[in-house]
Amino acid sequence: MKLLHVDASILGQNSISRQLTAVIVERFRGLHPDMDVQYADLGAEPLGHLSGAHLAAAQGVQPPSEAVQRDLERGRAALRDFLAADIIVIGAPMYNFSVSSQLKAWIDRVCVAGQTFRYGPQGPEGLAGGKKVIVASSRGGFYGPQSPAAALDHQESYLRGVFNFLGITDITFVRAEGVNISPAQREAALAAAAAEAAQLAA
Ligand SMILES: Cc1cc2nc3c(=O)[nH]c(=O)nc-3n(C[C@H](O)[C@H](O)[C@H](O)COP(=O)(O)O)c2cc1C
Repeated sequence: MKLLHVDASILGQNSISRQLTAVIVERFRGLHPDMDVQYADLGAEPLGHLSGAHLAAAQGVQPPSEAVQRDLERGRAALRDFLAADIIVIGAPMYNFSVSSQLKAWIDRVCVAGQTFRYGPQGPEGLAGGKKVIVASSRGGFYGPQSPAAALDHQESYLRGVFNFLGITDITFVRAEGVNISPAQREAALAAAAAEAAQLAA
């Protein structure tokens, strides 16, 4: 059993999604004591944005610099870790109504035609099915279906769409919402989400 733990907040110790992914990973370590855990801290060590040079390298063109070469290798490792994982735990802060750009850069490396999806006669087909994804979502406001800002949720809805596209249907969101409304709401939302994370089913 392999678990991939990805954090993507830029808020370091103050990050709520990081606190939640830690609880989730601990929970799964308890459920599967011999589990192999890989960790990617995209806040501390972000992948570069995809560029023309990255795409050209995939077609066999020599990368223009060592920096691009290293970044390509890190991107390939990210894809390998994603493909190898049975469980993927993702810390996903909402920044400007979407995911962090660090998480988007990682998504750009794992959505690879021929590896995690393909286009066939019936249209797109996900190739990464059978995995379990747990997203620790943290956001300053409220974006539930009944909230006035629901249409601005391009974070959870986006992640669900991406993973569905890759063939993954077992997706759970552990959510702390309204964390910037007040300190009391922040504490309550974090405590409730952490309690939920600690009880996740295998
Ligand atoms: C750059 C930035 C942009 C943000 N944009 C939004 C936003 O669009 N909507 C929202 O509700 N909260 C927003 N927030 C608040 C975060 O969603 C909130 O702080 C959350 O806890 C972030 O997750 P993290 O603590 O793991 O980084 C933003 C915070 C930052 C730092």
